[in-house]
Parts: sequence; structure tokens; C-alpha cells
Amino acid sequence: KPVLVLNGPNLNMLGKRQPEIYGRETLADVEAACRAEAARLGLGVDFFQSNHEGALVDRIQQARDANSAIIINAGAYTHTSVAILDALNAAELPVIEVHLSNIHRREPFRHHSYVSQAALGMIAGLGSQGYLFALQALARRLADAPQ
Ligand code: DQA
Repeated sequence: KPVLVLNGPNLNMLGKRQPEIYGRETLADVEAACRAEAARLGLGVDFFQSNHEGALVDRIQQARDANSAIIINAGAYTHTSVAILDALNAAELPVIEVHLSNIHRREPFRHHSYVSQAALGMIAGLGSQGYLFALQALARRLADAPQ
């Protein structure tokens, strides 16, 4: 069962968007790195990005049956979306939250995360490497508790 890697609004702009904060890699680069790491770990991976809150909720609902775990960078919806939190809680899947930037070092409005309420853990500030660490954590967890 593949791990679902979800990316929220403006993450399609990666590489062009404030590279001093988010780096020069594109989302396609991040996807390729995730696919390579997942293959190394023996995991499948589904990748999905949307700028629309409802589309992210729909994808999380689908994951309930079809996926083994979720890695999510909800972008700005991290700080605003009770709907995404509710969908993650309803999915009853292991969730790891990722942020490219260190949200706790930035503006106060980025310090609170709704997603964290549903997450096993959060990786922030390590750039795209955070997604790979999340895959490693899930690989170990899924091996310990096969579903
Ligand atoms: C982000 C941090 C959010 O505060 C911001 O709105 C993003 C990206 C990150 O990956 O660092 O869009 O989730």
C-alpha cells in the first residue's frame, strides 16, 4: 500500500517561490527524491498537490481505504484548516507533518498548526530532506506494525 505524499497551496511554485526560504528545488525534484527514497525503502508512493482545500480533503478521504500512511505539507492551510485536520483524524492513518521552512522561526501566525493535532510527528526546517526523513520513519513504523 503506497504512502500518500500530500502538498498544499503554493507548493507547485517550489523553486520559483522565495527560494531563500524554500530552496531552489522544484516540486518535481522533491517528488523524484521521494520516489527514489521510497523505492530504496520498499515503499510505494502516491504524490498529490493541490491549491484547493476541498481537493486535499477529498484526497485524504480516498486515502482512508487505499493508503498505508500520509505525509503532509499543507502549506498555509496548516495554520487555518480545521477541515484538513478533521479529514486526517477521520482517515485513521499514521500522519507525518513536513514543512520545508522552520515555521517556529518565522512569523507568529505560522507557529500554530492544526495538522499537528493529527500527526505522529513533525519535521520542519530541513528543506526537502524532511520528506525523506518522514518516509524513513514510516518505513520503520510500517515494518513494526504490518497492516
Ligand atoms: C510551509 C510553511 C507554511 O507556513 C507556508 O504557508 C507554506 C510552506 C513550509 O513548507 O515551510 O506554504 O508549509
